[in-house]
Amino acid sequence: MVRSSCLLLLVALLATVYSKDYFVEKFEDESYKSRWVQSTAKPDLGEFKLSHGKFYGDAKKDLGLQTSQDARFYGISAKFDSFSNEGKTLVIQFTVKHEQKIDCGGGYVKVYPGDVDQAGLTGDSVYNIMFGPDICGYSTKKVHVIFTYKGKNLLIKKDIKCKDDELTHLYTLILNPDNTYEVRIDNEKVESGKLEEDWDFTAPKRIPDPNAKKPSDWVDTEKIDDPTDSKPDDWEKPEHIADPEAKKPEDWDDEIDGTWEPPMIDNPEYKGVWKARQIDNPAYKGPWVHPEIDNPEYVEDANLYLFKDIGAIGFDLWQVKSGTIFDNIIITDSVQRAEEFGNETWGKTKDPEKKMKDAQDEEDRKKEEEERKKKEADDLKKKPADEDSDAEDNKAPHADDEL
Ligand SMILES: *[C@@H]1O[C@H](CO)[C@@H](O)[C@H](O)[C@H]1NC(C)=O
Repeated sequence: MVRSSCLLLLVALLATVYSKDYFVEKFEDESYKSRWVQSTAKPDLGEFKLSHGKFYGDAKKDLGLQTSQDARFYGISAKFDSFSNEGKTLVIQFTVKHEQKIDCGGGYVKVYPGDVDQAGLTGDSVYNIMFGPDICGYSTKKVHVIFTYKGKNLLIKKDIKCKDDELTHLYTLILNPDNTYEVRIDNEKVESGKLEEDWDFTAPKRIPDPNAKKPSDWVDTEKIDDPTDSKPDDWEKPEHIADPEAKKPEDWDDEIDGTWEPPMIDNPEYKGVWKARQIDNPAYKGPWVHPEIDNPEYVEDANLYLFKDIGAIGFDLWQVKSGTIFDNIIITDSVQRAEEFGNETWGKTKDPEKKMKDAQDEEDRKKEEEERKKKEADDLKKKPADEDSDAEDNKAPHADDEL
């Protein structure tokens, strides 16, 4: 027991010591501008600013890259020494904070080959992996995991829900050399599986045999009428009968009112349509299963996880309502290292951030309450004098909380 936990500790230590960070960015001051290249591919791309936002856990640590203009495309990227993830785990991790109550906009990163044209970065720039949250309206609230494979962008077939609140969240993608993956949000696993199963990298391994057909004499009716069962002689009874309790009204005149007929009622003896008892069909063979064959179009690839040239990361986004803050980026070969980095950054500031936000929300609530009361009092005073000056009152007082 002691030995094995010592061993675990040692393994953990070694993982940290021998892990490799390919890229780390904490956006702690304006020096990021020397590492990141703003795209000039379009004249009206949105501007990124360094900001910790309206509420934060630590004024310096929580500085991040914030989108600052509504309804714009954004494009910015940073290069690092190009590497291949051959035989190694690849971890891509960063934080996203949609403090603006985002209605529609991307919150993902793209990881590019080393030769990406940074000044010319657009949505058409070829990337290796796109990962992170994407929100648009009520219907799209998902985490994208897209791989570029043989020139095609392959979307994950599973639906991974993203966070849609205003706090900072940690997104982690883990890609393993055994062709498995895991997605974590706030250090908790939200999805995992095999690359081959969750993306359409290639045609499926097995397909229904196109030459197989259900035999025409295949019996898949499980139950049949019992041939020994027959309708009882006294079964047939009319569904409705004349009400035996009804009496012809005394003032009924056949000559004027026509022949009197009693009203009809449901017959209590009516048994419905007769159906034979059901028994197991002796000829039943079970449901027919379409036999499968190996798909001749299937191409085996033991290296679905592999990207031979990873050399840049960037934000290529569209945002309707700006204000998203990206921070704490790490690309590394160790899950342990990414977790530690996440703990040191997001882990330290998330609680104080929430505390500040809660305090601000409470402040706003109080202000609104006061204004509502003041307005009610004013209305009461005004009322007898001029009753139809409502138009002005409809303008709700609203103080925008600028930083
Ligand atoms: C990160 O923090 C969590 C929660 O405090 C802890 O359980 C986990 O062991 C930490 N991970 C590392 C690698 O330090």
